[in-house]
Amino acid sequence: MTNKIKKIQALEILDSRGNPTIRVKVTLENNINALAAVPSGASTGEFEALELRDGDANRYGGKGVLQACENINTKINKALKGEVVTDQKRIDRIMLDLDGTENKSNLGANAILGVSLACARAGAKAKNKPLYKYLGSTYGFKVKDFSSPVPMFNIINGGKHADSGLSIQEFMILPVGINGSAERIRVGSKIFHTLKTILSTKGYSTGVGDEGGFAPELNSHAQAFELIIKAIEESGYKVGEDIVFAIDAAANSFCDSQSNEYILKPENISLDYNQLIALYLEWIKKYPLFSIEDGLNEEDWDEWKEMKQKLISENKNLMIVTDDLTVTNTKRLQKAIDSNCANAIIIKPNQIGSLSETIECVKTAQKAGWKIIVSHRSGETCDDFIADLAVAVGADFLKAGSLSRGERLAKYNRLMKIEDELK
Ligand code: PGA
Ligand code: ZN
Repeated sequence: MTNKIKKIQALEILDSRGNPTIRVKVTLENNINALAAVPSGASTGEFEALELRDGDANRYGGKGVLQACENINTKINKALKGEVVTDQKRIDRIMLDLDGTENKSNLGANAILGVSLACARAGAKAKNKPLYKYLGSTYGFKVKDFSSPVPMFNIINGGKHADSGLSIQEFMILPVGINGSAERIRVGSKIFHTLKTILSTKGYSTGVGDEGGFAPELNSHAQAFELIIKAIEESGYKVGEDIVFAIDAAANSFCDSQSNEYILKPENISLDYNQLIALYLEWIKKYPLFSIEDGLNEEDWDEWKEMKQKLISENKNLMIVTDDLTVTNTKRLQKAIDSNCANAIIIKPNQIGSLSETIECVKTAQKAGWKIIVSHRSGETCDDFIADLAVAVGADFLKAGSLSRGERLAKYNRLMKIEDELK
């Protein structure tokens, strides 16, 4: 009875938006088995690895993943049968070689990632270790000082994640002045519920968007900051001390491809990149804005560099975060490091499509002194793998949505469980 892989099976399931995704089950010869499910983005970067979808308009509007499941059940199952599950790097390498393409278009990044994550879970079970400890030791992170990443709670949703009309995709609160996962989550929840009461009193909708944040139809982006400030103060916390702000502009999603201008719907204005940077500067001066993600278009490298210089000269501690620009791809990250256009990176395993490549990207960023934000996708399942991943690699932040919707709270709940275990 060994830790060798006996069987890998895939199942088409639905994600939090009701779209198909993949769940993988890995069974070992000793009958240990483990599951993993794959998330899916909406405001995806152009350079992400390929998410294989069937394209059959008669099933799930073309979004079915039966072909990707078939690839797992046949080709990947055959290639990995008999491999020792704890040899994670070798397992990932075999799948990358089997696929043979740069963007995993052959087998599908969703297929490869599902297997990669399920193998890691099976490996942890085989070694009788919690997943974060297993990942830490497998990839050579310092296992002794696991620290808990600070959650980034996305409490107002816009962009492609809600019909609030806000062009900026995410307004997040970061409890940087509060210690410990459980207490940070409790404080986040308090502010979330206070915001709900404020919105409802003012006659705004309290329905939530894809990531569990509110989606009120506001007149301006500034109003979102003002409402959040009110919610923090009414909850009894200090704005700028206990709690700071972050935004994910996801600027690709409101950049007009013809004119290259950024269209801010609530204000009904159209800005060139210089004017958008000026707006960010205004916000930095006015609000405790600590972090700006995807502030500009994903291919505008020179403009990004200019943005970083200008914003950092206003606040040297500001995080300039890449997501669509780097897509968890070490090559693109290296280009971003070389061009000095940011200082923090979003890490999403499904952007690159395997665990080992995800870790390579984390290590490259850490070596360059960048901050690490491990992140969910807007289409999620209740799989909580990224919480363990964030702890294992010593991530600075975990971005997993708001304080509502089960698929978001699964990650935060796992963070509390890990904290409790490590006490
Ligand atoms: P996505 O959004 O999962 O829809 O890409 C999350 C993000 O942009 O950070
Ligand atoms: Zn993003």
